[in-house]
Amino acid sequence: MSSALLNRLKPAVSSALRLWSSRPTIPPGLSLRYAASVRLYSGLMEPAAPLFRQLFESESCTYTYLLADPDTREAVLIDPVLETVDRDLQLIQQLGLNLTVALNTHCHADHITGTGLLKKKVFGLKSGISKHSGAAADIQLSDGDSITFGKHCLMVRETPGHTDGCVTYVTGDQRMAFTGDALLIRGCGRTDFQQGSPHRLYESVHQKIFSLPGHCFIYPAHDYKGQTVSTVDEEKKFNPRLTKTVEEFVKIMDNLNLPKPKKIDISVPANLVCGLHDI
Ligand SMILES: [Fe+2]
Repeated sequence: MSSALLNRLKPAVSSALRLWSSRPTIPPGLSLRYAASVRLYSGLMEPAAPLFRQLFESESCTYTYLLADPDTREAVLIDPVLETVDRDLQLIQQLGLNLTVALNTHCHADHITGTGLLKKKVFGLKSGISKHSGAAADIQLSDGDSITFGKHCLMVRETPGHTDGCVTYVTGDQRMAFTGDALLIRGCGRTDFQQGSPHRLYESVHQKIFSLPGHCFIYPAHDYKGQTVSTVDEEKKFNPRLTKTVEEFVKIMDNLNLPKPKKIDISVPANLVCGLHDI
């Protein structure tokens, strides 16, 4: 159909026809059912991408991330929060997923992890955290370890500095990095408690995160301004702290004078035992 003819049709019919003529073509050999599942569930809308959801807990401004293989339905949760465990489980059930691993990026001070409660509710679920965190978990992670879910995986990069046991989880294709509190959007985690060290944090971000491809998406553990995602290139260019020299960075971090997190006295002890303390 020529575009001149399309333009003469009524607007609604015209736009419907345009949509139809620009529909994605299904590659030969790919079944309709598979193509539909990719369109419904793949956050990045590419056949090779994992299913991806970013979830938010508003009291502590924490992001929880759900990743899954659209074929095998194996799923991983990163940084679940105690108060939003039921919401996360409902989504997992609605999407027909099988949650196999719940990971933490570090031992949090501002909220209680949902990992312990999830383990009670999901048979066979394994928890994972850095071996340097001092926290109990089924899987004690080290630099270079990988967590697989179907044909996808998350690679572990140790990024200490905010705490000793901070890690960044990077998807196998290096398109997404879950940086915890090591690197936030235009910011970074504080370094004035829980073994914090601005020198170590600066080194971690520059060596382990800024060495990722520039287009790699940065998904942090928190955001307090409504931002949801950044990239390595963006943070290398615009992060007001980590674009400075190490000396300037240390000075900034040593002079933040932040109040103590409200929940630190209950969160840290609870998170050291997988969130099961006094629950
Ligand atoms: Fe933290």
